[in-house]
Parts: sequence; structure tokens; C-alpha cells
Amino acid sequence: MKEEISVLITEEEVDKRIRQLGEELSRYYEGKTVQVIGILKGGAPFACELAKRITVPVIMDYMQVASYGAGTETSGDVKFLKDLDMSIKDKYVLIAEDIIDTGVTLAAVKDILKNRGAKDIKICTLLDKPGRRILKKITADYVGFSVPDKFVVGMGLDYDQKYRNLPYIGVLDFKEE
Ligand code: IMP
Ligand code: MG
Repeated sequence: MKEEISVLITEEEVDKRIRQLGEELSRYYEGKTVQVIGILKGGAPFACELAKRITVPVIMDYMQVASYGAGTETSGDVKFLKDLDMSIKDKYVLIAEDIIDTGVTLAAVKDILKNRGAKDIKICTLLDKPGRRILKKITADYVGFSVPDKFVVGMGLDYDQKYRNLPYIGVLDFKEE
């Protein structure tokens, strides 16, 4: 099977939206320092691009969780692979994620972080797939784009660890060779 990618959101649209989110977040965090937590691996490119557009002081940290195998369906259980390096006690925390799909990953992340005494926790996701949500209570405070129920790649999102580096969002399809 041949993998084919068609552009869903162009690089220009992605960049423009990230700038807008950066402006909104800079207003929200005015006078504060924000601890941006990128969810590895998929959330890392977005976390970096977003941090570049935030004008208040930013501290970056990362956490790694995994809910996907090599396929395109979530396995439902979440493994914690890497914890934060820094304490979030009394901090303003912004979770930066690539996509909210079923909500399983973010529910697990939020559960862990909730008990660590952060002053404020917000979620910013580049993409949201609301049609696929299993955990309805998981919503993002800031969303880049709402996307249809298709398997997407690029800007951190992978298929079998590939395509994370694409600067746009594409839909992945499989064609007979
Ligand atoms: P959730 O736990 O189902 O919300 O899934 C979150 C994680 O699944 C994301 O951080 C992605 O790594 C992965 N994921 C969900 N949908 C897609 C997709 O369309 N393409 C690539 N990865 C996806
Ligand atoms: Mg991910």
C-alpha cells in the first residue's frame, strides 16, 4: 500500500493561527511567567512554535505519554514515559498538545498534573477532533483548528513515526500500488 498525503491546512494557515494563539495567550498571561509543557513527541513542534509567539517569559518543559501503537487507533491505555523536569507548584501551566482525539491522553496528563499544586492549568491544542471524543469532559481552552475524523499527519503528528516534520497538516490515505 502506498501512503498518500493531501494538504488539509497549509503551512501559511498553520503559522498564522499559531501567531493568533500566541497573541491571545500573551494577553492572558500578561505580567506572568508561563510554564509551557509540550507533550512528547507529537506536541513538541507545536509547543516550540507557540512559545516563539508568546511575549511573556516562557519556561519550557516536556512530558511523554504514549497511547498509540504503530497503527491509527488508540489502544485506550496510557503509558508514562517521561515526567517533567521542573516543579509546577504555584505556576501558570500551559499544556501544548498536537491533537485531542479520544481525550484519553490529556485526561491522564491532567490527572497527574492536577495534584501538583499548579496555580492555573490551561490546555492549548493545535488540532481538535471533537467527533472522536470518548472522554467528553476533556476540552481544550485554546484550539488551533477543528478537524474532521480523518487520520492527519504533520506538525508533530506521525504515522509510524514518519511525517512529524511536515510544516503543514495533511490527510493520510492508503492507495493500492
Ligand atoms: P487521544 O488520547 O485519543 O486524545 O489521542 C491523542 C494522541 O493520539 C495524540 O497526541 C496523537 O499522538 C495521536 N493521534 C490522534 N489522532 C491522530 C491523527 O489523526 N494522526 C496522528 N496521530 C494522532
Ligand atoms: Mg501525541
